Amino acid sequence: MNSDNVNSRRRRRELVCFCCGLTEAHIRAAVENRKARTLRDVAFMTGATTGCGGCESDVELLLARIKLEQRDLNSGQLQLPLRLE
Ligand code: FES
Repeated sequence: MNSDNVNSRRRRRELVCFCCGLTEAHIRAAVENRKARTLRDVAFMTGATTGCGGCESDVELLLARIKLEQRDLNSGQLQLPLRLE
């Protein structure tokens, strides 16, 4: 397994929303499985951003990254190495 895969797996387990205990995997599941398309969709489906709101920019960035990945996968283009840091 290369370092990109290890970093990707580690990132998916890290908390994105501390108030609701949500990781990237939770946000990703809402987008990929439940078709969340907006920050409001993600908030409604997962509860992310509904506590202190401090994670809003991180969740929004993550949502944008996942949507870009989906677009690139659908178009056959390579994925962009976007990160939350
Ligand atoms: S950290 Fe997500 S609502 Fe507080």
